[in-house]
Amino acid sequence: MKLLIIGASGLLGINLAMEAMREHAVVAVDRGKLISAPFQVFHADLLSQDTIASVLDQVQPDWLVNCAAMTNLEQCERVPEQAQIINVDVPVQLANACAERTIRFIHISTDAVFDGEKTDFYTEEDRPNPLGVYSQTKLDSEHGVWAVNPEAIVARVNFFGWSLSNSHSLSEFFVNNLMEGKNVNGFTDIIFCPILVNVTARLLLEMLTKDLSGLYHVVGTKPMSKYQFGIELARTFGLREDLISPRSVLQSSLTARRSPNLRLSTHKLSTDLGHEIPPFSTGLVEFYTQFQQSYPQKIRGYQH
Ligand SMILES: NC(=O)c1ccc[n+]([C@@H]2O[C@H](COP(=O)([O-])OP(=O)(O)OC[C@H]3O[C@@H](n4cnc5c(N)ncnc54)[C@H](OP(=O)(O)O)[C@@H]3O)[C@@H](O)[C@H]2O)c1
Repeated sequence: MKLLIIGASGLLGINLAMEAMREHAVVAVDRGKLISAPFQVFHADLLSQDTIASVLDQVQPDWLVNCAAMTNLEQCERVPEQAQIINVDVPVQLANACAERTIRFIHISTDAVFDGEKTDFYTEEDRPNPLGVYSQTKLDSEHGVWAVNPEAIVARVNFFGWSLSNSHSLSEFFVNNLMEGKNVNGFTDIIFCPILVNVTARLLLEMLTKDLSGLYHVVGTKPMSKYQFGIELARTFGLREDLISPRSVLQSSLTARRSPNLRLSTHKLSTDLGHEIPPFSTGLVEFYTQFQQSYPQKIRGYQH
């Protein structure tokens, strides 16, 4: 199959490209960072509707995954108009363009559409209640995408992994700081379900192969606090876990409100895929193996 990845320079985008390349033809769109990637890259401005149509007509992909977004919550609060454009308007245009050309479309949403008030796992049936601009725009994008492309897959995700900047993910934050012997804080009052981004990518590809559509929670199966996540990383990498201080997010300088409970059920996904979601522990080991095998340096090298 031919897969077109929008936002290929992002944490999900680059790792999805690396996974998809094993079995599929990959073509990517970014804003200019990827200049020596092992797959075809278009440098394009997504904000122009003509660009989207022209790239789709040139590439003629079977599948398109939209990984582009304004993901910095604080930035979304500062410039909500821009967040609206990249997080809502662009995905809707992409979804529409794909529907017109019968290209299977995956849009990536977030676990953060929920307010965290529920004490149990959130299912796809639960009512979202976004707490900030970022999560509101992501929820709006879900509705906007389905309005024009009812067959689209919308995947609510949360993942960790190696990024092109070496600093985008929470996992890189912990590993890099602990390696330098620096003290860091880990939030004890935000619970989430981390999964290695490469595992997320494989699940998304499998969802396309199995021709799924609709809303899915594509996260890990082991809920933990951000503090616990840091401890798990420190143990796996043989780093000092005592450098991580348990803290409340309320003590931080972050201004965008965050949901305290991002526990999402993956029951629908595992049922429809016909197998269990790979456990957190195997993804953590793979993350460490990638480090040992210089995977982070390899993907960062695609920028020069
Ligand atoms: N990371 C997580 O754990 C997490 C959690 C929940 C949901 N998600 C969702 O997962 C998806 C991927 O997230 P991520 O962490 O991989 O994101 P990311 O690393 O921040 O990457 C975002 C991508 O979007 C591109 N982009 C941003 N603004 C753009 C613009 N104005 N025009 C064109 N491209 C633009 C970026 O290009 P540049 O590199 O040029 O800036 C980059 O390729 C997003 O939909 C996000 O909301 C992620």
